Amino acid sequence: MVAKKFPVAKDALHAVSQRVILEHQQSEGGYLACPVMPDYQFSWFRDGAFIAYALTIDGERNPMQHPSGIAAQWDSAGRFHHWCARQINGRSEALERTITRAQRGEPIVIADTLNARYHDMGEAGPDDWPEFQLDGPGIWLWSVAKYVEVCRARPLPILWENAITLVVRYLSAVWRTPCYDCWEELGSDVHISTLAAIYAGLSAAQRLIPTLNTEGVRAEIKAFILENGLTPGGELAKSVGVDMVDANLLLAALPDDGLLSPDDPLMLRTVARIERDLLAEGHGVHRHRKDTYYGGGAWVLLGLWLAWYKVQIGDAARARELVAWAEAHADSNGYLPEQVNDAMLDPTFYEGWVKRRGEIANPLLWTHAKYMIVQNALADIS
Ligand code: BGC
Repeated sequence: MVAKKFPVAKDALHAVSQRVILEHQQSEGGYLACPVMPDYQFSWFRDGAFIAYALTIDGERNPMQHPSGIAAQWDSAGRFHHWCARQINGRSEALERTITRAQRGEPIVIADTLNARYHDMGEAGPDDWPEFQLDGPGIWLWSVAKYVEVCRARPLPILWENAITLVVRYLSAVWRTPCYDCWEELGSDVHISTLAAIYAGLSAAQRLIPTLNTEGVRAEIKAFILENGLTPGGELAKSVGVDMVDANLLLAALPDDGLLSPDDPLMLRTVARIERDLLAEGHGVHRHRKDTYYGGGAWVLLGLWLAWYKVQIGDAARARELVAWAEAHADSNGYLPEQVNDAMLDPTFYEGWVKRRGEIANPLLWTHAKYMIVQNALADIS
């Protein structure tokens, strides 16, 4: 793919991001991950939670008018959280069965867990998908807590409170169970980024509803990671027993409720190895060294995520460089893709994926969300 320059002023990319996201929110509240790729024309908790977080922050800083009387960004994020709460509460019986099984030490029945992708009206996407993923509901808890805090959405709607409580009990019961990671890969491993997402979600939920008291489970998760989730070099590992990092470990430093503070030595070592092993200079960041999805290109989404982390540790100059790379990969509409294929780890896999799924997802709403998050974070420190 030859990177085409987005011809208009940089601020316009922020406006395009707002528009792309708001236009592709579905009538019931979910966001399409990507409007043009058939396999991505669904809503995910994970993508949506980051999108809603971006809108929450953006609505505070750059409110867009909306007939509801609150910022259009807040109206949209609120509708997404409401949609999530409905999906979760609608599956309460199945989730209760899973909680009971997990508490008795019995195996999980996948049909009784939360799905990864949903149609807007609530039905789960087609079955041929790695559905059992625990990071998404964790990130949702983190995102909804931020929404309630920033938008002062009190009293908490009862529907939301029920969903939050149920997700906390679900994650507290099943966190040790192997599941697919946030890249929807390797379902029989225990992934450290997934545990970090659960940790952040449980922490955020407790701030929201103090009676939930998630401290004990969080302490267990952290102790488990420190005992089983480090590489021989002392970085967070991609998964238990693996001497590799994955760029998704940036999840460990989510603002406010992260497993680690951004400047914790363990986080600094982990990011240093991500930069050593996975940075595709000038393009973005690879997911992990064994990635073959679309040839294992450099993810614009991850370049922006690294930029967000750099802002968190006060390195605005590096963050700006990373943002500039992402901007250079906007197409002529200002759309930002999931990844770019000018720096593939294994190009032999590229065509196979194009045949199977079509061109690389573009626009990817989650990438646009990351762009808005970084822009607002940079504006906050300047
Ligand atoms: C990514 C997921 C993402 C999904 C939709 C997948 O290829 O690995 O992280 O949720 O696309 O954007």
